[in-house]
Amino acid sequence: MAKPGRKSADSTNPPASAAATAAEAKRAAGIAGLLLPWYDRQHRRLPWRAPPGHKAMHPYRVWLSEIMLQQTTVAAVIPYFQRFTALWPDVEALARAPQEAVLAEWAGLGYYARARNLHACAQAVLRDHGGRFPETEAGLLGLPGIGAYTAAAIAAIAFGKPAAVLDGNVERVLSRVFDVQTPLPGSKPQLRALCQAATPQRRPGDYAQAMMDLGATLCAPNRPDCLLCPLSELCLARARGHAAELPRKAPKPERPHRHTVAFLLRRPDGALYFRRRPEKGLLGGMLEVPSTDWRDAAWKPAEAMRQAPMDAEWQMLRGEAEHVFTHFSLGIRAMLADIDARQAARLNGEWLQPGEAKVPTAIKKMLKLLR
Ligand code: ADE
Repeated sequence: MAKPGRKSADSTNPPASAAATAAEAKRAAGIAGLLLPWYDRQHRRLPWRAPPGHKAMHPYRVWLSEIMLQQTTVAAVIPYFQRFTALWPDVEALARAPQEAVLAEWAGLGYYARARNLHACAQAVLRDHGGRFPETEAGLLGLPGIGAYTAAAIAAIAFGKPAAVLDGNVERVLSRVFDVQTPLPGSKPQLRALCQAATPQRRPGDYAQAMMDLGATLCAPNRPDCLLCPLSELCLARARGHAAELPRKAPKPERPHRHTVAFLLRRPDGALYFRRRPEKGLLGGMLEVPSTDWRDAAWKPAEAMRQAPMDAEWQMLRGEAEHVFTHFSLGIRAMLADIDARQAARLNGEWLQPGEAKVPTAIKKMLKLLR
């Protein structure tokens, strides 16, 4: 599922670039010639990817995959990508879908602002660009949900532009090849300059994806497989024996821990009560079950019950769950109340069987406490 804590390559504006030195430019110029033949043989086969050297996939598929892949692993994205493209095969179909349907299909993928922006972007492409994605980074940057990384990735992969595509995997590869000792995020301007210097005019889309594949496979965070790496002869950190220690990272502040108690209201037919969260903010627009405030101190049952959505025979369920968001973790307990159909009719919201509700993973964990 979504990887909490992975920072989006789009979440910060790229800082002003430092320039690569002459020695760095020389090393950078050797990368594509070693990397592309490796990619031709070893590329990952992915549903949004054209085979090496072939005409790119439709920009709609490239864009959809890049939005889904922000913050999320390839393995988690594949089934979502397949379902979205089956339901909405082109940008017009997605633009015309109800937002609630798009959010429901996104449930479980995390970072829900992406889903709202995805829908808004499809509508903007249809409304402002006649249904065709702009081909330049500048044009793409004007669309909802598209930041520097994603604009460069789409320009390179879908339109063959030599845009510098710098995500976390590429940062790791470049940090090692050039033995960058400055910790992230301070090294970003240098990495951006190196990325620009290394990006070839020929096959820039394949090149960008080859860097991603290398970072996701051989040039992995903890155990780089330098023996198999096509860039080993160029790699300064390997020559100096410390590739596994790079990239260095500035220490992150600790994640605070919060607590909540979820309220599961159950009708005689087994359906539970759901309501929609406000558009703005965490899990914006998604379905949820009611819960207490999410606060630093744990809740006592009597105290939690004062925030219940209605008076009923609430009982605390056994068990606890935890969900990790980017900026905090959440300890979850749940209370259950069985009510009759007449009481249920007094609440505004939706009644769904627990197995049918398309909800974020944090809410799924609340429902699981029923078992
Ligand atoms: N991560 C982000 N974009 C990707 C892509 N196009 N291929 C593989 N991994 C990726």
